[in-house]
Amino acid sequence: MKRKILVTGGTGYIGSHTTVELIEEGFEVIIIDNLCNSKADVVNRIHKITGVKPLLEVFDLCDQKKLDSFIQKHKDISAFIHFAAFKAVGESVNKPLDYYRNNLVSLINLLEVMKCYGIPDLVFSSSCTVYGQPEKLPVTEDAPLQPATSPYGNTKQIGEAIIRDTTISDKNIKAISLRYFNPIGAHASALIGELPEGVPENLVPYLTQTGIGIREELKVFGDDYDTSDGSCIRDYLHVVDLAKAHVIAIKRLIEGNNKTNYEVFNLGTGNGVSVLEAIRSFERVSGIKLKYKIVGRRAGDIEKIWADPSYANKELGWRTLSSLDEAMKTAWDWEKTIRSNKL
Ligand code: NAD
Ligand code: WQD
Repeated sequence: MKRKILVTGGTGYIGSHTTVELIEEGFEVIIIDNLCNSKADVVNRIHKITGVKPLLEVFDLCDQKKLDSFIQKHKDISAFIHFAAFKAVGESVNKPLDYYRNNLVSLINLLEVMKCYGIPDLVFSSSCTVYGQPEKLPVTEDAPLQPATSPYGNTKQIGEAIIRDTTISDKNIKAISLRYFNPIGAHASALIGELPEGVPENLVPYLTQTGIGIREELKVFGDDYDTSDGSCIRDYLHVVDLAKAHVIAIKRLIEGNNKTNYEVFNLGTGNGVSVLEAIRSFERVSGIKLKYKIVGRRAGDIEKIWADPSYANKELGWRTLSSLDEAMKTAWDWEKTIRSNKL
């Protein structure tokens, strides 16, 4: 019988790619999403890619009663992957209570149903944002966490702590927090990808929207950092590589191969890429000369960070397979698909 996995936020960017990979690995996927940052039609596109349409239940995970009655109908769920969260750093500074409520209440509700219905396994979407500006690079999982610079970042730190404490108090619950670096790109089919609302905060959607002509020019936030070319450095990984890590993490928990009841892994390529190098990658794969200008630094930006993914490489047997150019090309193909109204 197929193992049933509950994917929260499964119509969102990373959740939809992970749903595809889970289905392709033979899992049955059920999605809960309130569609606050995604569209229901994503499940039809997942169907086109995989031949399977996952069940989508539309409700807010902060609604404990709805979650409880949903789980009562699906007591055979083996594990949860929890993507659902608000994720805009800037917005979180202006709406901290919305962020704390949405990201933490939903998590607590999930953990409560896990305890109540004996669902043992959880994979949680965490972020490299928990490290702030690390002293040592590349950053390993045991690097000290820095005080969060935004309410969003704080929800990831607090979320990790809530999960860790729950696994300590209840030995039946096992969890893995995956600290993502910078996911970019889209599925090779160009049927699913990132759909930022309004003006994108993140570099790659801004780049592709500039390339297609929706934005006039890209602003590069600073060229006076202590880096090779003066622009900030990040670790950009292909979202499909990232999605595959979730399948491995879920199998690790289900098969009981976890070393401790709470584990943390960095998910990145291990390569630092500057903003200017990312622009050159975009120009190579699109053949477009990008309009950009250097402006002042963005408040709160980290100067440089990239992952040491060797623990995930060794323990999960996972590594990224796509190059920056390959990931960038899929981001560009996705941008062209959205704008051509082919979806
Ligand atoms: P996304 O916004 O595309 O997906 C999140 C999904 O969750 C959306 O479909 C949204 O509608 C849903 N959702 C939000 N709150 C909900 C609630 N209360 N109830 C039900 N559904 C809800 O975001 P994403 O980029 O796919 O990110 C997924 C996870 O990964 C998030 O937890 C995010 O913080 C984390 N993360 C993302 C990045 C990144 O750069 N994209 C990096 C590190 C970590
Ligand atoms: C990347 C680089 C910018 C836009 C975010 C979240 C963090 C985590 C990862 C979720 C930076 C530069 C950007 C632009 C630019 N997400 N840039 N012009 O800063 O690593 O962090 O994603 O957990 O919490 O904050 O990603 O894509 O915003 O920026 O020059 O228009 O691109 O300064 O150096 P970042 P990003």
